[in-house]
Amino acid sequence: MIRVRHLEKTYHTQHEEVEAVRDVSFDVSDGEFYTLLGPSGCGKTTILRCIAGLERPESGTILLGGTTMFSAEEAINVPAEKRSIGMVFQSYAIWPHMSVFDNVAFPLRQASSRFPRSELEPRVHRVLELVRLSELEKRNGRELSSGQQQRLALARALVGEPKVLLLDEPLSNLDAKLRGEMRLELRELHKRIRVTTLYVTHDQIEALSMSNRVAVVKQGRIAQLDYPRPVHQQPNGSFVAAFMGSTNMIPGTLARNPDSIWAIETAIGSFHCAKSTDVRAGAQALLTIQPVYVVVHEELREGPNIVRGTVTLSVFSGDYIDCQFQVGTQTLYARQHPSVQLREGQEVSIELPAAHCVAVAPED
Ligand SMILES: Nc1ncnc2c1ncn2[C@@H]1O[C@H](COP(=O)(O)OP(=O)(O)OP(=O)(O)O)[C@@H](O)[C@H]1O
Ligand SMILES: [Mg+2]
Repeated sequence: MIRVRHLEKTYHTQHEEVEAVRDVSFDVSDGEFYTLLGPSGCGKTTILRCIAGLERPESGTILLGGTTMFSAEEAINVPAEKRSIGMVFQSYAIWPHMSVFDNVAFPLRQASSRFPRSELEPRVHRVLELVRLSELEKRNGRELSSGQQQRLALARALVGEPKVLLLDEPLSNLDAKLRGEMRLELRELHKRIRVTTLYVTHDQIEALSMSNRVAVVKQGRIAQLDYPRPVHQQPNGSFVAAFMGSTNMIPGTLARNPDSIWAIETAIGSFHCAKSTDVRAGAQALLTIQPVYVVVHEELREGPNIVRGTVTLSVFSGDYIDCQFQVGTQTLYARQHPSVQLREGQEVSIELPAAHCVAVAPED
């Protein structure tokens, strides 16, 4: 449905050139929920704006539903209003002095040639019902809570029945509880209407919990493109590992591999592991493992991928406890079930199960 190839976008400011998007290519299938995930400034909004036709790339092609919307080579640039896209902006950009109804009706009135007057009211009502704002249609935009504003922005993006929905961090202004609820609501809404959705966020939980596929963006490039589970469990480099919350980074050397079991030799021992494609035998590498997969044994034991360490910190957070250990000069982190009780200073055995250990190349 969305096909992006070799997209490049540079901003020319007074003082410098900012290469915001560099050779980005990806495909979003019909009805898919696809997420661009990355830190602030990595180019997510710019990619969305290029697809929406609000920004003109230097090179590359953008196809929507098989039709070329932008091609630098063929000098094609379809104007934004002809691309059949609904967009929710990072700041919802709803009109505070207009009623909820008029906010949603606005795009239909703008495109009155495509939507006859008689259709306007039923359409607006249908979409307000979809986002559960029917009761509030007479309120002004400024009289809504953040969550309601977010749903209003969504209704406005959906009312024209776009082929593609672009959502730019739509939940970032909400408090944690509402964000959690809206995550589920958006997911459920997508299941119902199946509109092809490109979602942008810097929040890994949003990306992993809502998406069919995720592209992790680093400095204008796609660092990894995969299904949620592999992005989280098999990072292809230390950037993705760290961005996915893997605080465990143990430097070492990837051992030669006589029997196709990889191991990494580190200052605190040798660990069996998988490896990402960018690291070779004999090369410097970092062993990563998500804290949630680290197993802590209170009764001391020996074995493969097990080291002995001292508890230096144990923080209860309700749903889990976060623990920190010292093993020689290395600090390790584990997230444990809240029923686990560890004392600071206690000696424990720490197991890094090989199935969850990945050796990645150190960041360049
Ligand atoms: N209009 C502009 N003029 C110049 N530079 C810009 C402009 N818009 C964005 N940039 C720069 O381009 C890069 C990418 O910006 P972009 O807004 O796409 O990032 P983002 O991933 O959406 O970040 P955030 O998560 O903070 O919204 C940044 O370095 C930013 O400073
Ligand atoms: Mg942005």
